[in-house]
Amino acid sequence: CGIIARVGHDDAIGDLLGALRTLEYRGYDSAGIAVQNGHGIEVHKREGRIADLESAVAGQTISGSVGIGHTRWSTHGAPSDENAHPHTDCHGEVAVVHNGIIENYAELRDRLSEAGHEFVSETDTEVIPHLMEEHLRHTDPETAFRRTIGELSGSYAVAMLVRDEDAVFATRRGSPLVLGLGDGEYFLASDIPAFLEHTSEVIYLDDGDVVHLTPDGYRVTDGDSRPVERPIQTVDWDPEDVGKGGYDHYMLKEIYEQPTALRQTIRGRIDTLNDDVILDSFPPGSFDEVTSVQFVACGTSYHAAVYAAGLLNESGVPAQAYLANEYGVSEPPIPENALVVGVSQSGETADTLEALRYADAVGARTLVVTNVVGSTAARECTDAMYIRAGPEIGVAATKTFTSQVASLALLGERLIRDVTGTPSRFSAELLDSLSRLPSDVQQTLDDSTADELAELFDGSDAYFFIGRGLGYPVALEGALKFKEISYEHAEGFAAGELKHGPLALVTPDTPVFAVFTGQHTEKMLNNVKEVQSRGAPVIAVVGDESEEVHRVADEVLTFPEAPAYASGIMANVQLQLVAYHAARRLGRPIDKPRNLAKSVTVE
Ligand code: G6P
Repeated sequence: CGIIARVGHDDAIGDLLGALRTLEYRGYDSAGIAVQNGHGIEVHKREGRIADLESAVAGQTISGSVGIGHTRWSTHGAPSDENAHPHTDCHGEVAVVHNGIIENYAELRDRLSEAGHEFVSETDTEVIPHLMEEHLRHTDPETAFRRTIGELSGSYAVAMLVRDEDAVFATRRGSPLVLGLGDGEYFLASDIPAFLEHTSEVIYLDDGDVVHLTPDGYRVTDGDSRPVERPIQTVDWDPEDVGKGGYDHYMLKEIYEQPTALRQTIRGRIDTLNDDVILDSFPPGSFDEVTSVQFVACGTSYHAAVYAAGLLNESGVPAQAYLANEYGVSEPPIPENALVVGVSQSGETADTLEALRYADAVGARTLVVTNVVGSTAARECTDAMYIRAGPEIGVAATKTFTSQVASLALLGERLIRDVTGTPSRFSAELLDSLSRLPSDVQQTLDDSTADELAELFDGSDAYFFIGRGLGYPVALEGALKFKEISYEHAEGFAAGELKHGPLALVTPDTPVFAVFTGQHTEKMLNNVKEVQSRGAPVIAVVGDESEEVHRVADEVLTFPEAPAYASGIMANVQLQLVAYHAARRLGRPIDKPRNLAKSVTVE
């Protein structure tokens, strides 16, 4: 989601809408604004894109110099007018925009409902204005704001209007919020592009900072109300590239967003102390009836599905991944008590919808793992699980694959426990490695030498990717990413299949990327030698402590040593970077490769 706040002496509406347009890449399923109009707080919000909000306010005479705005990407509650931000309390005293997740919202909501507060949305955010309303009964707005945020747990960036206050109150914890210092006007936003047109003087706020913004100035205090000085910095971004946040392409930006996306995906879902998975929609016992799982998906999502099927099979839950387009035409038998799981970033892919509809028609229980709350698949399936990766603009899926795999691992662990009656044998290790994954992926990104490798192998005849077990879907995904954005010939193989055909393609001009996850290392090394003896250079994508592999490989791309499940994700991050840098060298239109679309809504 994206948030914006603006205070000044002249009208804020144009600035707020302009900022939302720039923030649209952060979310676009609903949007809204609120301003102090001289008589109170006026709110306009609706489901749909910013353009829909603009046409809704175009015919109205609204004005005010202090306001807030929001563009949403749903994580709780489908896109709707009610769920759009800003959210208000019962009496229009307070309006709030929020980015992040309030983890304790259910208990706060119960308490507030008991005290007589009426909730009109399904969002976690709505507890904030109601809490504020409570505190305002006893104290001044700034103290009430501090008390309100003191009761929240989770991650948030919040900006708030309070009736009769010519000011914005704001804070952040774990979600971005930047202060922009203009000429007679001040801004707060999730990202600098929102106000770059007005100023390039910014203050990066720290977690816990509280900002009080008025048309005459700003005050930043820490959690204990002590004034703090934050340095003013000048950014020199090209306004043309604003949505890309300084990156050359959305794809690269999204690759680098993976630690943040993963944090969002797993937040509140892992209890490492008790070795437990917490899925609000799927409490223990949700899948007691299930005896097997069929996954249906296309493209990158299919590779995430192969990964998930591997994890389930290892733990004794029969699982199979199908290409949705094949499933739809061959209509395989669905065993009684099978759960059919669609994996779809968009929730709109026609082939996947068709497969899920077939499953539904024959009476199977369906579940979709998706990034889009309120998507067709989410509405049509019996159940939905959201990967919370945030919007992905680049056609080539990157961060959504990572978040899909992480979500599927959590769902998989719940399934294993319900179906077999015991946690998977790798449960503790899996949950622990998942919780470390955001920082491990960060380190993988920081240390990557993918750029140099792409240079080294520029101009090769073809690029092959091999893996076994959980490394196999990574090899497939590595090749898909490479071919779709570089237009070079790239193919992924199960390493054991090399000798059954693909080996005929291997020459000194076909580099082979070998994915090592820590499983089946000896066999993988045999495959490496097989291709090396035909003259092919081998790039091992491998944990940083695997000495033997480092010795045998011609080149290495490394990641922090981790269990197989997490290793595959990090190996994939390296391969995303290889594909990106290869395509960049070739000058390809990386974010919009020819002939491909982000979401394919035809069969
Ligand atoms: C298109 C996209 C791919 C994506 C596939 C499935 O082909 O270009 O990146 O993996 O559709 O999309 P979905 O939204 O169902 O995950």
